[in-house]
Amino acid sequence: MSELDIKILTPEDWELYKTARLNSLKESPDSFGSTYNQEAALLDTEWRSRLDLKFREIDALPLIAEFKGQPVGIAWGCIHKPNLKVAHIYQMWVSPELRGKGIAKSLLLKIEGWALGRRCSLMVLGVTTSNEVAVNLYRSFGFVAAGQLEELRADSPLLVQPMTKELNHAV
Ligand SMILES: CC(C)(COP(=O)(O)OP(=O)(O)OC[C@H]1O[C@@H](n2cnc3c(N)ncnc32)[C@H](O)[C@@H]1OP(=O)(O)O)[C@@H](O)C(=O)NCCC(=O)NCCS
Repeated sequence: MSELDIKILTPEDWELYKTARLNSLKESPDSFGSTYNQEAALLDTEWRSRLDLKFREIDALPLIAEFKGQPVGIAWGCIHKPNLKVAHIYQMWVSPELRGKGIAKSLLLKIEGWALGRRCSLMVLGVTTSNEVAVNLYRSFGFVAAGQLEELRADSPLLVQPMTKELNHAV
């Protein structure tokens, strides 16, 4: 995968991000709390301002994976005030034709490096319990189930398992 490039999205990349994110919601509706219809209704200015981290006063790492220059994956790391020790992972998605090649792992590694740099002690995410591939991915990366199951969203019978990974800082 030498032609794989992982880039940090900036506000100028909003169209690229919009396309990838809407693709992910359409292609994997059971993997996310949000829906295609909800996000397809967002204004272009809202897509841009999602990536405008200074404006949002949020510490985040919005990533896009590109293969041969084409967007093939996304993932976000986010640290929410006031708990600056916890890095959340959201929006993880890899394009179906490029799955199984380590792209999600590369995205997780990048977020982990960022979270370590921010002195976080924990990474947290939620995964739909029936999504065995994603559960395997996170387990193989060191995440363990933690906490009670939650609803994916109000209109869905699916449940989400919170998972965490402790981050060890070298002394
Ligand atoms: C889950 C997803 C992100 C994995 O992306 P990917 O790039 O294919 O994953 P990787 O190639 O980096 O695989 C990493 C690990 O995940 C697990 N995994 C990946 N594909 C798998 C499969 N088909 N079956 C079982 N385990 C699998 C393995 O443990 C793998 O490690 P290994 O190759 O050393 O065995 C991708 O399938 C996807 O986008 N699914 C739809 C959206 C989604 O479910 N997102 C997660 C939201 S929480």
